[in-house]
Amino acid sequence: MIFVTGAAGFIGFHLCRRLLQDGHSVVGYDSINDYYDTRVKYARLGLLGIDRSMAEKWKIQTSGNLIGDFTFVRGELEDYTLLDELFRQHSFSAVVNLAAQAGVRYSLINPQAYIKSNIVGFSNILEVCRHYKVGHLAYASSSSVYGLNEKMPLSTKDNVDHPVSLYAATKKSNELMAHTYSHLFGLPTTGLRFFTVYGPWGRPDMALFLFTEAILKGEPIKVFNHGKMVRDFTYVDDIVEGIVRVVAAPPKGDPEWSGVTPEPGISRAPFKIYNIGNNDPVKLMEFVEAIEKKLGKQADRIMMDLQPGDVPATYADVTDLMADLGYKPSTPLKEGIDKFVDWYREFYEIKVER
Ligand SMILES: NC(=O)c1ccc[n+]([C@@H]2O[C@H](COP(=O)([O-])OP(=O)(O)OC[C@H]3O[C@@H](n4cnc5c(N)ncnc54)[C@H](O)[C@@H]3O)[C@@H](O)[C@H]2O)c1
Repeated sequence: MIFVTGAAGFIGFHLCRRLLQDGHSVVGYDSINDYYDTRVKYARLGLLGIDRSMAEKWKIQTSGNLIGDFTFVRGELEDYTLLDELFRQHSFSAVVNLAAQAGVRYSLINPQAYIKSNIVGFSNILEVCRHYKVGHLAYASSSSVYGLNEKMPLSTKDNVDHPVSLYAATKKSNELMAHTYSHLFGLPTTGLRFFTVYGPWGRPDMALFLFTEAILKGEPIKVFNHGKMVRDFTYVDDIVEGIVRVVAAPPKGDPEWSGVTPEPGISRAPFKIYNIGNNDPVKLMEFVEAIEKKLGKQADRIMMDLQPGDVPATYADVTDLMADLGYKPSTPLKEGIDKFVDWYREFYEIKVER
């Protein structure tokens, strides 16, 4: 049985669906916070067989009609008592922690939300994993930990001590906290640095959603850093494939690891960090053009400066993912954008103009 936090979220929903299709039993956990439109979260849960009126309550609900069993629990990572009760009731072979306060820009507005969910909440996850001897904890980190690093592609072998947002700092902190639990208690942990994830059911605060929404409404889009941005956009199914492979392969620790020349990203303890990114960076203006093409409509662009907290470029080195798990994301941007726009139109019932 697998415990997935952030199950009503973008990546968590896709992961739960995949795990259930593969026949796993899953307990999904999420506070369904209102950081963005909760209708999207309830609709995702609906596809997992969870009824909105039930999900709204702070109680446990089990769905009946999926291949694997899905149980949803509405709760906060900060609620240690509830987590402890769940871990006492179930025996989880693996935990995937995706619940977090996400978003770089919002961390300048509401830093406390990041401390609560990403630091206090994550420490609770580590504690329950430790006390109930979970076989593997995989957790979401982020490409934002690379901060001021400019050496491309961004590698887990490089040091990441210069974050440029509190969001990034909390994700880097998660990696450090996880290492101590791997070292002290032998808890196998794997941190996953996701690179700009996009696809159907995507987050309303992210560029693809915002651009699509604005273009369809005939409103201008904000193009940051005057378009001079490069992103390694990664399709959500590729992220999920990576998580599924990672979950099945808990790290063992490398006895050869040396404290004299300490390599980041691995350890003598069962600790590992992977990048999961497309390894094919795209210029922001090409991204905008691909959306315009699919929508058949030009965007009115407002050129803006680089936003505080943002980084101008991301590009994932996925050597380790390929070497250890025989895998690398591969969905072409056009294909992913087309699938997102088709979903967006269907979800918001927007007819294609002819
Ligand atoms: N989407 C991306 O491009 C991206 C990139 C890098 C890292 N990540 C990380 O991946 C993870 C999943 O991201 P996502 O895009 O699916 O985000 P999301 O916001 O859609 O999902 C996160 C879910 O966690 C829940 N949540 C937040 N705080 C909680 C708390 N304290 N207790 C319980 N539930 C809580 C939210 O209600 C939400 O449904 C996050 O950790 C995020 O930081 C995402």
